[in-house]
Amino acid sequence: MAINIAIDGPAGAGKSSIAKLVSKELGYIYVDTGALYRTVGLYSIRKGIDTKDADAVTATLKDIKVELGFVDGAQHVFLNGEDVSEAIRTPEASMGASNVSAIPAVRTFLFDLQRDIAKNNNCIMDGRDIGTVVLPDAQIKLFLTASAEARAERRYKELIEKGEKVEFQDVLDDINKRDYQDSHREIAPLKQAEDAILVDNSGCNLEEGTKLVLSIIRERL
Ligand code: DC
Repeated sequence: MAINIAIDGPAGAGKSSIAKLVSKELGYIYVDTGALYRTVGLYSIRKGIDTKDADAVTATLKDIKVELGFVDGAQHVFLNGEDVSEAIRTPEASMGASNVSAIPAVRTFLFDLQRDIAKNNNCIMDGRDIGTVVLPDAQIKLFLTASAEARAERRYKELIEKGEKVEFQDVLDDINKRDYQDSHREIAPLKQAEDAILVDNSGCNLEEGTKLVLSIIRERL
């Protein structure tokens, strides 16, 4: 049976950076489920559809094929055959993802893809509802968090490094808005699973956060 590790938590908590390194260390694949919601959001944005319009977004699903591929262990996401791994990383795509992720049909649409990967592979999967909904039987569940300021600081640095022109306050506002939306939606809201271990890595850099998570996982494997 495949070993599944679920990591949930709010935007910018370090889930993907840490999970990527930990999965390499363990020889597992890393699955970033946020990329799937971002891809569905990107399709609507490109078509000029309001990502909050549930009916309009739902109607696009029949035209979308979302696939995940792994190149040298790194996840790539494909939208109708196009590699959109970079295109989904803009602030606009982040908010679009948060909007479409509140639409039940979108969650259903992406559910089997996530479940199938976990069934067939030892993996670390990160998202918002992995421990609660997608993989309730995961062997290890972590809820990884950090203060909103620490998370905004990290996102801000990432975006500046990529050459995006952003203000810190806007990044912080976006984080707070997404936190609120992600944890208050009706379906599969962001929340800690009862059997998840809470890990706050506010004061940690990436190396420290990775060590912390790895030690928690190794104790339980
Ligand atoms: O992890 P991320 O920032 O790339 O996720 C983008 C959005 O997708 C996030 O605001 C909420 C949504 N999401 C979700 O609802 N469920 C998941 N399992 C992963 C992401």
